[in-house]
Amino acid sequence: MKHLISVNDLDHQFISEIMSRAQEYKQRRQYKGRDFWDALSNRLKNRLLITDFFEPSTRTRLSFEAAMLYMGGNVIGTENAAEFSSFKKGESIADNFHVISGYGDIIVGRFLNEGDAHEAANASLVPLINGGDGKGEHPTQALIDLFSIVEKFPDDKAENLRVTFLGDNKYSRTVQSLARLLARFACVSEINFIGPEEVNSELTSFLFEIDTIAENHDHRVTYRVQHQLSPETIGKTDIVYITRSQTERHYFKGLLEGDFVFTTELADLMPEHGLILHPLPRNSELPVEVDDNPRAYYFEQARNGLFVRMALLEALCLT
Ligand code: CP
Repeated sequence: MKHLISVNDLDHQFISEIMSRAQEYKQRRQYKGRDFWDALSNRLKNRLLITDFFEPSTRTRLSFEAAMLYMGGNVIGTENAAEFSSFKKGESIADNFHVISGYGDIIVGRFLNEGDAHEAANASLVPLINGGDGKGEHPTQALIDLFSIVEKFPDDKAENLRVTFLGDNKYSRTVQSLARLLARFACVSEINFIGPEEVNSELTSFLFEIDTIAENHDHRVTYRVQHQLSPETIGKTDIVYITRSQTERHYFKGLLEGDFVFTTELADLMPEHGLILHPLPRNSELPVEVDDNPRAYYFEQARNGLFVRMALLEALCLT
């Protein structure tokens, strides 16, 4: 695989290798501390990562950059390509990525519009990783989410998992990627989408796609769409995946008026083994009080980004 644009680009073997490598990195980091980084510091020596971000980012850009630096590589890039690159002077995405691909070994891009990542990949001479394209996809976040789920639900505990996506399920690219990815796995039996009707009404073709993905992997996923936050659904959910309103892409009143806030009372309704995920950044949909709930895992999920992205850079740079 040369580029990583969509979770649909990933085969099972590649996913499984990334999960194992990231797990190994995380475990070794825990036990070896500083020695761990020293042992890795030649892996990507003399390789150059270019980060070209047209939208704001904290986790994606910095964890990719940290991953490359820890493995002995170098990094150049811009966190605001929309303002500080020649895009501002009218240069196309294709020209931008064609040119910069001549300067480095691998690129992570973040894009304003769905489809831009494909355009950039078509023009790039080196592997291009989609770090999020508009409301399109965010495949590396989905791998981090999957890694975090597998940590809590390893193979022997992963059966009949019920997942609820709560919030901006149409315009959040992390939902778009993770739901596609989870639909492949037979251990996921139910996927619920809770959000305002105005967002849910735009999910029709996506739900059809989820159904087809599951069918192509020889199993069935029951999915349900709900326009109101249902305590009953949350009470039966193993994994809640919350997203903020993507206000940079739309304005939907229902999401902004507090109807979909995941309160501590709702968190307490989940089974004891439940998992609360959020790709972050969060707004008011996930109050800080929930951080104290033992099911809250989103800061660990963000921390996992480093290990998964180390594994990804290694896999894509060295093949
Ligand atoms: N989850 C995520 O993509 O975070 P950033 O926007 O901060 O990169």
